[in-house]
Amino acid sequence: MSRSAQSAVCAVYSGTFDPLTLGHEDAIRRAARMFDRVIIAVAVAHHKKTLFSLDQRVALAQAALADCPNVQALPFDGLIVEFVRAHHAQVIVRGLRSVTDYDYETQMSGMNRHLAPEVDTVFLHTSAAVQHISSTLVREIAKLGGDVSGLVSPPVLNALRSQLAAQN
Ligand code: COA
Repeated sequence: MSRSAQSAVCAVYSGTFDPLTLGHEDAIRRAARMFDRVIIAVAVAHHKKTLFSLDQRVALAQAALADCPNVQALPFDGLIVEFVRAHHAQVIVRGLRSVTDYDYETQMSGMNRHLAPEVDTVFLHTSAAVQHISSTLVREIAKLGGDVSGLVSPPVLNALRSQLAAQN
């Protein structure tokens, strides 16, 4: 049964995505089956020196999920709950890879609930096959000439190759 536009549920999946990995994709694709709309909120990330620019990270997220019509990638700065409100979303989706993620995520979801009680955080337990992936390790392996083809999708792999070639 299709839900009416009025009751459509929009979820936001946020991160730096430098770059987007198959671990992120796993969570996004599963969220896209669960919610009417998913927005990948790509953080400006003042706290990190990124390999890819904000525009590149947004474009790569969009390209990697091009086969999911209800997924859209947008840049964001500031508080995540304000982004959620501005886009009339109701849910924040987070991927949980390990107990280490759990502690940090519990604190963040509690703080976001304090700031915006109407917004719920939904945790997706990352699929076992992609649990070991992190963007930092992908960048490191790629920089050192290792094979990251099983860790990122083809658009990201191509971008990593050209970005690193341009830097060398
Ligand atoms: N698969 C693979 N990797 C994953 C993953 C998954 N399912 N989930 C998380 N990761 C990785 C990320 O790639 C990242 O790796 P990296 O450090 O190597 O880049 C790491 O785990 C941490 O991810 P995350 O917690 O999403 O951090 P982030 O820095 O990418 O993004 C923000 C954090 C931007 C989403 C968060 O700080 C935020 O919402 N900030 C906005 C400001 C705000 O509202 N602050 C108050 C919050 S209470």
